Amino acid sequence: MQEYKKIYYQTHPQVYQPAEDTFLLADNLEVERMSRALEIGTGTGLIAILAAKKARIVIATDINSHALDCTLKNIIANKTYNMELRKGDLFEPVEDEKFDIILFNTPYLPTEEDEIVADELDAAWNGGPGGRKVIDRFLAQVKNHLNPGGKVQMVQSSLSDNEKTLKKFEELGFKASITAQEKGFFEEMVVITAVLV
Ligand SMILES: C[S@@+](CC[C@H](N)C(=O)[O-])C[C@H]1O[C@@H](n2cnc3c(N)ncnc32)[C@H](O)[C@@H]1O
Repeated sequence: MQEYKKIYYQTHPQVYQPAEDTFLLADNLEVERMSRALEIGTGTGLIAILAAKKARIVIATDINSHALDCTLKNIIANKTYNMELRKGDLFEPVEDEKFDIILFNTPYLPTEEDEIVADELDAAWNGGPGGRKVIDRFLAQVKNHLNPGGKVQMVQSSLSDNEKTLKKFEELGFKASITAQEKGFFEEMVVITAVLV
């Protein structure tokens, strides 16, 4: 078991291991008390379990079934029973449900065909050739799943064009900004927070 902010979590070889990007989002969460939250791509569930300390309910999803198995163990370890787990691609598992906040530490690494890893862990970082394959699909749908005044907090990096995401949010009617950042060797990771106005 590992520990972060008093959340105890175990990992799995086929699940994204919480890293700098996870902790950047964890340290900058803006989850309101009693809100209804969605985390897409929950991995070990660390972010969702933290969010559940404030939210009324957190729906946590992932496309990787090992992630949901791992998250379930971590839910039990932390006795976090105001959570639901669902498997699927982006918003598919929540159909037409709406939320007050949507969280997503995206797979943002530019990845060429010959860099694809043939296992479920690939989905953790594979952002396609420009790094935006999943980000752009997410942005195209996110507004339909927010309550009025709802908020999005997502992680990506300078490798996958942060400005393009900010511009897209503005076009969709959000007020968006970078609310946290951390420099790595090759990139700068950011948390983008966008509020529907
Ligand atoms: C960078 S990892 C983040 C994991 C975890 N939230 C964290 O911060 O440690 C991205 C996660 O998104 C999941 N994922 C990737 N594409 C997805 C999709 N289209 N729909 C749902 N989950 C997806 C991956 O399986 C992976 O668990």
